Amino acid sequence: MKFQLESKDIQSKARAATITTDHGVIETPIFMPVGTVATVKGVHQSELKEQINPDIILGNTYHLYLRPKTDILEQAGGLHKFMNWDRNILTDSGGYQVYSLSGRRKIKEEGVKFKSHIDGSTHFFTPENVMEIQRTIGADIIMAFDECTPYPCEYNYARNSMHMTHRWLKRCINHLEKTPLKYDYNQTFFPIVQGSTYKDLRKQSAEFIASVEAEGNAIGGLSVGEPAEEMYEMTDVVCSILPEDKPRYLMGVGTPINILENIALGVDMFDCVMPTRNARNGMLFTAHGTINIKNKKWENDFSPIDPMGITDVDTQYSKAYLRHLFASKEMLGKQIASIHNLGFYLWLTREARKHIIAGDFLDWKNKMVHQMNKRL
Ligand code: GUN
Repeated sequence: MKFQLESKDIQSKARAATITTDHGVIETPIFMPVGTVATVKGVHQSELKEQINPDIILGNTYHLYLRPKTDILEQAGGLHKFMNWDRNILTDSGGYQVYSLSGRRKIKEEGVKFKSHIDGSTHFFTPENVMEIQRTIGADIIMAFDECTPYPCEYNYARNSMHMTHRWLKRCINHLEKTPLKYDYNQTFFPIVQGSTYKDLRKQSAEFIASVEAEGNAIGGLSVGEPAEEMYEMTDVVCSILPEDKPRYLMGVGTPINILENIALGVDMFDCVMPTRNARNGMLFTAHGTINIKNKKWENDFSPIDPMGITDVDTQYSKAYLRHLFASKEMLGKQIASIHNLGFYLWLTREARKHIIAGDFLDWKNKMVHQMNKRL
């Protein structure tokens, strides 16, 4: 993997860069659409490629391991071939999904014992087997196995958990060194900073993560219910320590406003289920604020869904039509809303990149944050 910084904003810590892997170039800042179970929900690969056009999407170790299962992915020749996606893929390690399973899992030094959300069967994830599974899934970027702490989190729990995540990181690295690549392209490994909302822990964790000198670094344990200001404080501390010449990935974030604020603090990569999950509930993101398309006020609004939108659905269909699809519980409604929202998120990070390069990012960001903070 190669990381090349192209432009640094003078008024903020925003940067524009490129990441090059064996599956192509990723222009940053980037939003990575989430394709948890080998599908970006509701979106055909052709729509994803031609309309939304991301350089990279996300998959999930926990879900793929349970279904279709690792051996099927191996028989398919890896996730790229299985889902017909020839651009970049990043897989999360399962650290977050295991956190979401509270009540159905037990965390120990050795690893995490958990019950499948599908059939209740018992499984055990360790740093070692999660690295093996990610080798077989075959994403371009693979993540360390970590513990994502909840919010709020007691200081002692956060500190002990952070140290365990660091010990697990060493085990991930040792095991990867012994585990050969499965396919004819490289994989890049990203460790994850933890430390809850405690500045001293975040600083300690960022220093430890930086010391392993991986090719890129991630920030986890945020967007788990803490106020946005606390999230920004943590990102700021961590970004000031993580090396400048490597990509920084903020996991699971967030709203369009969260994304712009974190770009201003030096983050390059984002992922979140919000654009697709909220789309399925009828919430649309636009440059001028959010729309609840189920609202009666759109019943006879025959204007395009989003006249500024980058995808065909934005101008092909009206708000009244989309509202009707939701009112009738037609699946096309959820599909159109998902394409719109992902198109908007990709447009937003591409615009951010353009403004960083043009040198007017901060003014543009402040204007957008103000505009997007409305309900239409
Ligand atoms: N996704 C969102 N937050 C996290 C995190 O802390 N760890 C992992 N592995 N994935 C995440």
